[in-house]
Amino acid sequence: MKTSKSIPAGIAALLVCLGVGCQKAPTVAAASVLEMETIPRTPARLTRGHYLVEGLLQCPFCHSDYDFTHRPARPVEGKKYGGADFDTFGLPKGNRIIAPNISSDPDYGAGKWKDADFVRALRRGIGHDGRTLFPLMPYQYFRSLSDEDLASVIVYERSMAPVHVQQPKTTLTDDIKKTFQPLEPLAHVPEPDRSDRVAYGKYLVTVGHCEGCHTPEDEHGNPIPGMHFAGGVDMSGSWGPDPKKIIAVASLNLTPDPSGISYFDEKIFINVIRTGQVNARPLASIMPWGFFRNLSDEDLKAIFAYLRTLTPVKHRVDNTEEARYCKVCRSKHGFGERN
Ligand code: HEC
Ligand code: HEC
Repeated sequence: MKTSKSIPAGIAALLVCLGVGCQKAPTVAAASVLEMETIPRTPARLTRGHYLVEGLLQCPFCHSDYDFTHRPARPVEGKKYGGADFDTFGLPKGNRIIAPNISSDPDYGAGKWKDADFVRALRRGIGHDGRTLFPLMPYQYFRSLSDEDLASVIVYERSMAPVHVQQPKTTLTDDIKKTFQPLEPLAHVPEPDRSDRVAYGKYLVTVGHCEGCHTPEDEHGNPIPGMHFAGGVDMSGSWGPDPKKIIAVASLNLTPDPSGISYFDEKIFINVIRTGQVNARPLASIMPWGFFRNLSDEDLKAIFAYLRTLTPVKHRVDNTEEARYCKVCRSKHGFGERN
């Protein structure tokens, strides 16, 4: 998965208040709902948050013990939002990545955190304890969520039942800590323009962090130039009915090149996402189709419209073939030798 790499007026005001202990700031109409101490829990936000979190944004996928023996995969009963252990996540020994318990449990979860802690985690990659978050947490993408969408995510997320499971803390060596930094604050992210289908699709693809899995990176975690959405990222793992069996799989080329998905149309795309199958071939469940299938037709069409505008990249990736080294994306995948 992707390893990546201005204080908003309201947050700055909040910090000042915390420091000086100002009781109630004079009620100036907040520029953004995210600056409020408690984001109002409206039914509209709960509904929108549910749609985003359980669909495009896939929060439970990482923040729960996940059961891949089912299709689509699902959280282990009673463990949803209780956190998950990613072990070393392919990093050298001495590193251990934990997606924390973000359920409302006051002892082991996020029950005592503030809404502002969530805003800061999703916009800047800073945890409630001030630590910079390892960028497996896709904050570099989530930060593009509009203020209102982020507010909805937080309202829904914080309505989740407590899961009384204690997770260990993430540990990282100094070498790894050096490779990422917190992101600059954002003052205000407006609503996307839904009348422009391609722009709206780009918004959805960004916050859905498709790129995190579909764009190959070099050894420093930087995207390989000219390979935007061209696939080939090794995602092998035990994603099938037998937890002991490793399924060799790489992300696929989503560009409109003949080696990509030029043969897709809107209908095929929606069908692939809804069924998790490309013709007779089931997609591995690490591709979060089990979440994306919850998207509305309208949103899936917007996503497809945006994918159509990507620069075509010639890069063959075929998961039905044996994985071989590919000099173009510097990884091993089916048909790698043909590039
Ligand atoms: C691809 C995996 C992944 C996805 C998807 C993901 N997270 Fe995370 N998240 C993580 C990991 C891993 C961490 C911990 C990083 C660390 O400890 O350095 C984290 C940390 C966090 C934190 C900070 C916790 C703290 O200690 O303060 C919050 C809040 C959070 N995630 C919320 C969310 C929400 C809300 C979503 C969906 C919008 C989400 N996450 C989606 C992997 C993920
Ligand atoms: C966690 C990683 C991950 C994320 C995030 C992800 N994908 Fe995928 N995707 C994959 C993998 C891996 C495959 C290949 C699965 C297989 O062949 O079994 C895949 C396959 C696909 C395919 C099938 C392509 C073909 O040629 O058959 C489509 C379409 C697709 N992804 C679209 C998307 C879109 C759109 C998004 C964002 C909304 C997205 N993916 C996000 C990992 C991911």
